[in-house]
Amino acid sequence: MSQLQDSFGRKFHYLRMSVTDVCNFKCSYCLPDGYHPDGRPSFLTLSEIDNLIAAFSKAGTRKVRITGGEPTLRKDFTDIIRVIADNKAITTLATTTNGYRLEQHAKEWFDAGLRRINVSVDSLDPRMFYQITGENKFDTVMRGIDAALNAGFERVKINAVLLKGLNDKDLPRFLHWIKNTPIDLRFIELMETGLGRDYFQAHHLPGSQIQQHLLANGWQLDERGAEDGPAQNFSHSDYQGRIGLIMPYEKNFCATCNRLRVSAKGKLHLCLFTEQGLDLRDLLQSPEQQPALLARLEDQLRLKKETHFLHQGITGVTQHLASIGG
Ligand code: GTP
Ligand code: 5AD
Ligand code: SF4
Repeated sequence: MSQLQDSFGRKFHYLRMSVTDVCNFKCSYCLPDGYHPDGRPSFLTLSEIDNLIAAFSKAGTRKVRITGGEPTLRKDFTDIIRVIADNKAITTLATTTNGYRLEQHAKEWFDAGLRRINVSVDSLDPRMFYQITGENKFDTVMRGIDAALNAGFERVKINAVLLKGLNDKDLPRFLHWIKNTPIDLRFIELMETGLGRDYFQAHHLPGSQIQQHLLANGWQLDERGAEDGPAQNFSHSDYQGRIGLIMPYEKNFCATCNRLRVSAKGKLHLCLFTEQGLDLRDLLQSPEQQPALLARLEDQLRLKKETHFLHQGITGVTQHLASIGG
């Protein structure tokens, strides 16, 4: 096997690997009551991670994103980076973080081999940031982003979930910020999860509203790169930063799906939504198990569905995105 591919011809060179479900923020759309452990959690060990990445890279994975929960809460986070960076088939190593530990560690993680970083910043108004995330850490996160920009990362992206009635007044501030700062800002449409329909209906804001604003104000849709995922990217000659829109409710969003997910407890998820996840952990115990692991992956990929069913209000078993790594 040289390339993971599903029955719709989509190829998967991108693995999102969660390393913990734990998070120290309480984002109102994700973990409004904070993280509550389900028994004594036992997350993938360094050696299991090593075996997992070795198998995926054999099957064509070139990009790995370390996710959570909040991945940087793992005490061995820098070692995790090193283990993955040591695998020379992985050419892009990224993480998605709430930015809480970035200021202190950006340089250390870069030196260990991390090359891209996505930071969640749902509002540029510190009070609204607090209201959305449940943490008064706006300044800490912004200092962390500066540290990342200075540490030499090839990409720093900012994620903001679009929330009607909460951060929908923030667009001018965000645009002002990226005028002279070389970051990629991504607006993510709220996805319905097990939190329930009431929150979703109160706060869902279609990304098409931002899209219309951008197109009417000189922003241009970038050409898609061969390795791009479902985000639509926009550029403007007066701005150093770029804008990405992630609009999962748009038609054909899943046609460009290029990623697989493994949860912090070692379950393979073919999509953020709709399925339980298949345990891989029994085959992560030694490098000799790699052929069996690859066969299992190939088998499972045949089951990947063409699209999620969010349009029909079907969220599957996904209680919140922290459990799968977003
Ligand atoms: P890049 O690697 O920089 O392109 O980022 P990414 O979009 O893969 O990663 P990130 O962790 O920053 O994800 C941003 C948001 O997009 C999160 O809310 C994800 O849940 C959402 N997202 C990422 N992949 C998918 C997907 O396959 N389906 C859906 N519905 N949402 C996704
Ligand atoms: N809808 C959209 N985005 C979400 N995220 C977490 N939960 C949701 C949701 N229900 C985002 C976070 C972070 C990324 C990993 O996932 O804001 O940027
Ligand atoms: Fe934590 Fe990210 Fe969920 Fe916020 S969205 S609670 S930072 S896992």
